[in-house]
Amino acid sequence: PYDSFTALRTDFGPVSYNERARFWEVFEYDDVLRVASEHETFSSDGSKFAAHPEEFTKGQSILTTDPPRHRQLRSLVSQAFTPRAIASIAPRIAAITHNLLDQVAEQGSMDIIADLSYPLPVIVISELLGVPSEDRARFKRWSDDIVFSEYDDLSSGNLEEYNERVRITVRRTLDELYDYFRVVLAERRLQPRQDLVSELLAAQIEGQSLSEAEILAFCTLLLIAGNITTTNLIGNALLCFDEQPEVMDQLAKSPELLPQAIEEVLRYRSPALLVGRYATREVELHGQTIPTGQMVIGWISSANFDPCAFPQPEVFDITRTPNRHLAFGHGIHFCLGAPLARLEAKIALGILLERFQQIRRKRDQPVETIHSAFILGPKHCPVTFKARQ
Ligand code: HEM
Repeated sequence: PYDSFTALRTDFGPVSYNERARFWEVFEYDDVLRVASEHETFSSDGSKFAAHPEEFTKGQSILTTDPPRHRQLRSLVSQAFTPRAIASIAPRIAAITHNLLDQVAEQGSMDIIADLSYPLPVIVISELLGVPSEDRARFKRWSDDIVFSEYDDLSSGNLEEYNERVRITVRRTLDELYDYFRVVLAERRLQPRQDLVSELLAAQIEGQSLSEAEILAFCTLLLIAGNITTTNLIGNALLCFDEQPEVMDQLAKSPELLPQAIEEVLRYRSPALLVGRYATREVELHGQTIPTGQMVIGWISSANFDPCAFPQPEVFDITRTPNRHLAFGHGIHFCLGAPLARLEAKIALGILLERFQQIRRKRDQPVETIHSAFILGPKHCPVTFKARQ
């Protein structure tokens, strides 16, 4: 990622218009921060400028709304995701991790993705939402369809064609996902339980309940945005640590260093590559004029290698301080799930290093990265290890 974004910054300058994809791209730290957080100028609500605004009614969640609605929705759901609320599920995260590692401990080899970093966040979020984690094969297919399908050639195609393809795939997948959650909602209406879906159904903003579409959009967001990114964080951590085996040993000996190491993984291999916004007015950036309504992409992964914000950005340094990476975005849309993602990564990697030693990636199998314009992570990460006695 370092090389590719340094090259892009050099070739295109701080701000450039992508003719083929027809959006603006912003590469420097300060500008990405601005695009992510100045919500009055850079809106998250694409429906305001879309050719087919009706398509958006289905997908509107906190991620794609602006204030004041964003503030109301966020205040409702944020209770469930505070560090304190999330800390209470730490023992459960540890138990799931142990259980997953029990299944491979004897083998001496595993795929970090398939055996640990994929199932862990899906099981955790399923339990929070109150849906059976056995349905995770279906969640994965829906998630893959939304995140990967057709996005590979985002910058090589024509935007109308691209939008059309995405619309069709996303609409089909959302139909399936919403049908699934509609059944869950109907069950919880009849018989509330101690879960997030029941809480969302009972929640009120100024005397008004959330609409069914809002609850469905939120469940979908959690299931999709939260899982693949956390899977990638753990996979990316393994890739980073594997390049410096002494770091892996150091972390095994001193697990208290893990949280800081995870922050550096978030900077160095950001699981979410970009934030997308729409200019609400004409904006001047580095002498270029972004017209009203045009899409602006802030490249998180480029900002995280900006030498103005990070000395020697190409060096993976688990002691880097300060480390104000933008991996979780910035401002009012700052990732709601950040405490959960950090906790899951800390527990999963901590237990992995505690139980297994000499964890090494299998060198004969090249790292295959997910093809996506949005996210970064390995598809598979086969490793060998020795279980500690
Ligand atoms: C927002 C990244 C894990 C739920 C965001 C944003 C980023 C991000 C960059 C900001 C998007 C924007 O400004 O447009 C990540 C990364 C993760 C992760 C890198 C893992 C390492 C999670 C988890 C959950 C989650 C585990 C929930 C279970 C959300 C939600 C939002 C969000 C609901 C929207 C917040 C808002 O608009 O107010 N995430 N995320 N994320 N994330 Fe995450």
